[in-house]
Amino acid sequence: MPRTLIEPFRIKSIEPIRMTTRVEREHLLDAAKLNVFKLRAEDVLIDWLTDSGTGAMSSRQWGAIMEGDESYAGARSFFRLEAVIQDITGMKHFVPTHQGRAAEKVLFTAVCRAGQLVPNNCHFDTTRANLEYLGVEAVDLVIAEGLQPALIHPFKGNIDLARVRTLLEAEGGRIPFGMLTVTNNTGGGQPVSMANIRAYAALLKQHGKPLIMDVCRFCENAMFIKMREPGYENTSIKAIAQEMFSYADGATMSAKKDGMVNIGGFIVLRSDEWMDAVRNLEILTEGFPTYGGLAGRDLEALAVGLQEGMDEDYLRYRLRTAEYLGERLEASGIGFVRPTGGHAVYIDAKTVLPNMPAAHYPGWALCNALYLEGGIRGVEIGSVMFGKRLDDGTETFHTMELVRLAFPRRMYTQSHFDYAAEVIADAKLNARSIRGVRIVKQPKYLRHFTCECAWV
Ligand code: F0G
Repeated sequence: MPRTLIEPFRIKSIEPIRMTTRVEREHLLDAAKLNVFKLRAEDVLIDWLTDSGTGAMSSRQWGAIMEGDESYAGARSFFRLEAVIQDITGMKHFVPTHQGRAAEKVLFTAVCRAGQLVPNNCHFDTTRANLEYLGVEAVDLVIAEGLQPALIHPFKGNIDLARVRTLLEAEGGRIPFGMLTVTNNTGGGQPVSMANIRAYAALLKQHGKPLIMDVCRFCENAMFIKMREPGYENTSIKAIAQEMFSYADGATMSAKKDGMVNIGGFIVLRSDEWMDAVRNLEILTEGFPTYGGLAGRDLEALAVGLQEGMDEDYLRYRLRTAEYLGERLEASGIGFVRPTGGHAVYIDAKTVLPNMPAAHYPGWALCNALYLEGGIRGVEIGSVMFGKRLDDGTETFHTMELVRLAFPRRMYTQSHFDYAAEVIADAKLNARSIRGVRIVKQPKYLRHFTCECAWV
C-alpha cells in the first residue's frame, strides 16, 4: 500500500485565490487596523479563520439542491432530512434552525431558568453566552489533561466525572441537564471517548438529569473513537455515531461543520414535553418547524452532507491533514496543542515569540505575522480574545496565547498545507522582526472582532 494519504475527491469546480505581495499585505493590514477580522476575504490567500460554513459542497449536494421543496409547511425536503437525522440520532423529534447558536438559543430559552447551572466539558463561546444571557451559569469541567497544551492524551475532550459527581451532589437542584461538546472545540478540537460519554450519561441519569450533546463535529469525534478506543476498530462511523447518540436525550448541532453545508443547524430531542416548548419558540424566532430559518434546498444539501460527513475515507484524510501540519510544525520547533484535533491546529505563540510581553499580545502578533508573511488568516485565542481592560486602565491576560488555524472541509490540498508550514517556519526564523501591538480602540465585549490596533 502506498503511504501517501490522498484527498479522497477530485476537483470539479474551482475558486481562484489571489496572490498578493508583502508590500500589498502591509498596506491591507494597516487599513484593517492590524485586525485580520477586518480584512476582505479576497485579500486573504489561505483563509483558516474558521471551519464553520466555509467548506466545499459535493456534486451530489449541489444536485440535491435542485430538488429543494420550498413549501412553507410540510416540505418534502424536511421529511427527507428528518429520516436521515432520525436514522443517525435515534431521536424522535427534530427541528431545523438557521445555525448552531439558534438551536442553543431556542432550546435553552425553552427549558432553562435564571439561577440554574449547566456543566459541560467546555462550553463554546455562543453556548456559554446563550446560557449566561438567560442567567444560567456555564461550568467547564474538562479533565485536567485537557488544559495542558503539550501533553499527549487520546481523549483530551473528556469531562472530569469526579468533578461532575461533586457538582451533582452539591448543586443538583440547580442543574436542568448536563452538556457535552464533541469534539471539544474550546479545548483544541479534542475528542471525547465513548467510555466517557457512557459514564457521564449514567451519572446524570442517577440524578435524574438528561444529557444534551453539542454535536457540531460528531463525525470527527466518531473517527477518533474508531482510531483510538479499543473495541471500535471494526465498527462503522455510523454505528459509532449511533451509539454516541444513544446515551443522549437531545442535541444541538451547527450543521456548518460536520453537516458539510454552508448554513444550517438543528435540535433533536427525545422528550415530547421539551419539544412542545421548543416548537413554540421555534415559530416565534426561526420559522415554521419544517423549515426553521432555512430554505428547502438547504435541508436537501444537509441530508446528503450528513452522510458524506460520516464517510470513513474522508474522515481519515480530514484528521490526517491536521496531524500532518502538526508534524511539519514540530520539525520546525514550533509548539502547538497536542495531539492535533479534528478541525484545527492551535499554535502556541509563546514558542515562536518567547520574549514578547503579554501586553504586546504575542498571539495577535503571530496572527498578523502569518498574514504578512504568507497571506494566511488564522484567529488569535489569547489575551485579545479573553483578556479584559479594567476600568482603571489595567489589563488581565489569558494563560495561553494560541493562534487557531481551522480548516474548511474539502477545500485545501496538501500543497496548501506545505506552503503554510513553510510560512509558519519562516515566521519563527524571522521572529525578531515580528512586532507586538497595542489596542487603540475597543468595545466593551468581544473586543477581538472589532478592536483597532497600532504597532508597539
Ligand atoms: N458549538 C460549537 C462547539 C461550535 O464550534 C460552534 C461554532 C457553535 C456551537 C455555534 O454554531 O456558528 O453555527 O452558530 N463554531 C465556529 C468556530 C463559529 O469558528 O469555531 P454556529
